[in-house]
Amino acid sequence: MKVLLGVTGGIAAYKAAEIIRGLTELGHDVRVLPTQNALRFIGATTLEALSHNIVDSDLYTDVESVKHIELAQWADVIVVAPATASFLARAAAGLADDLLGNVILASTGRILVAPAMHTEMWVNPATESNTSILKSRGVEFVEPGVGRLTGADSGVGRLADTADILKAVTSSGSLSGKRVVVTAGGTHEAIDPVRFIGNSSSGKQGLAIALAARRSGAQVTLIAANVSDVPANLEVIAVTSALELQTQLEQVLESADVLVMAAAVSDYRIAEPNELKLKRAELGETLTLTLVANPDILGNINRPGLFKVGFAAETSADLEPAAMQKLAAKGCDLFIANDVSNGAVFGAENNSVLVVDAAGIVDSFSGSKATVANKLIDIIAARLR
Ligand code: CTP
Repeated sequence: MKVLLGVTGGIAAYKAAEIIRGLTELGHDVRVLPTQNALRFIGATTLEALSHNIVDSDLYTDVESVKHIELAQWADVIVVAPATASFLARAAAGLADDLLGNVILASTGRILVAPAMHTEMWVNPATESNTSILKSRGVEFVEPGVGRLTGADSGVGRLADTADILKAVTSSGSLSGKRVVVTAGGTHEAIDPVRFIGNSSSGKQGLAIALAARRSGAQVTLIAANVSDVPANLEVIAVTSALELQTQLEQVLESADVLVMAAAVSDYRIAEPNELKLKRAELGETLTLTLVANPDILGNINRPGLFKVGFAAETSADLEPAAMQKLAAKGCDLFIANDVSNGAVFGAENNSVLVVDAAGIVDSFSGSKATVANKLIDIIAARLR
């Protein structure tokens, strides 16, 4: 495994040496990225010698290699140990004021942090709030232990034992070894080469689910129907129409364990899209389009062993009956319903969902699409166990 070890500036930085030694002995490829303050506590020479790799934490050297992106994409997992209170605050705020901050922000992969600080700092509401923000984004924590701190004092806040950090790094996430296929966005059904029938789905929720699944250790394929801003290091198949989505999905589903069908698939397509652009002068004052039904892609998939999750976009606050009906009709294990009326949800940053299975309501929760995605992945992972 390729491990990027971030080291931040606290007295426990000296323990990074032991963590690097442990990781390399387990056969992992380790690169170390200390902050400037970490280098006050432990020398780059030690980190280089133990990791067998050059240590360079300067954001402004070798800029042509775009280090923050290269490192973020290289790492299978980013481990920050020790993580100071200040680091947790910067990461929670999304601050990218040094190379480590940039790498964290550019990463779409697994991030694990092992905090170390004085008890007062660890239990401070600011740190507690930063910790819960990071957890809600899928960052894993190796909680600090109780014991001797820097001075004569002792309490909670001591860096977790190296053995526990190594165990957490190697015992990968809750979907480790699973193949997850996520569809996202909204299909476009061509009228002619430049016009289409579409819907307002932005694909943000599906994308957040793909990223959350990946952070949980899954191998993820995202089938993106007209989604913008997809991270470069995610396996993405771009599609336009429902039929294209179906063809691509069939190909990747072969070895999948989970399908999350978040895409808003058009139920109809134009029977015969025009090869050339339609001309108003030739059409006159009315235009009649003949539509034919698209296949029910999700409903037609019945591969034994595949865990199927459907999405129901409804324009009613009473979500349960629609979700239960669609779950049964499409043979799904879980159905996620949301109320998309009044412009809510599509394109928005937040979502509010109801989760049902064959027995009824499983859960309901709201939050950023990343928070919703993490909770959904937790539910799916628990079901797979
Ligand atoms: N879906 C699909 N193929 C379609 C339409 C929808 O696979 N032709 C999937 C969607 O990706 C979603 C689920 O089915 O996961 C429910 O979609 P929705 O449009 O809410 O359901 P429909 O059965 O089309 O019902 P409605 O009449 O409410 O549109």
